[in-house]
Amino acid sequence: MANKELSEPYVELLRAAREAMRRAYVPYSGFQVGAALLDRDGVIHYGCNVENAAYGPTNCAERTALFRAIADGHPPGQFQAIAVMGDTDGPITPCGVCRQVLVELCAPDMPVIMGNLKGEWTMKSVAELLPGAFTPLSLHKEEQS
Ligand code: THU
Repeated sequence: MANKELSEPYVELLRAAREAMRRAYVPYSGFQVGAALLDRDGVIHYGCNVENAAYGPTNCAERTALFRAIADGHPPGQFQAIAVMGDTDGPITPCGVCRQVLVELCAPDMPVIMGNLKGEWTMKSVAELLPGAFTPLSLHKEEQS
């Protein structure tokens, strides 16, 4: 879906993700990532990656934004969009773990706007980012038939 005009709310969301990037705690990779999640009331929730000396506990920017918003009382499934920003060659692309978490907490058609510091961007839906995902429905086989 690259690359025509991005609508103003999404431009704003990418700007917020860029701002969030500066808050990253990245003593190990040095690779800053920012995320900005738009809730149903139009409020933006910031996320950045937060690394750890044991590496495994590192939390990506996307999950930080989602978990923060959930903890602040915003129900899953009702977010409007998320923007992600990193200093990558092309637009940044979310890791597999974050894609799985997006599938869990966001509507399948929710837009994910991915950008970089050069101003490039692309947009895909949550479902497009993880085809064939294992979802909450996968746990209830009687409801699928
Ligand atoms: N990272 C994110 O925060 N989001 C992504 O979409 C890709 C990767 C972080 C994890 C780690 O702190 C650093 O980037 C390098 O992988």
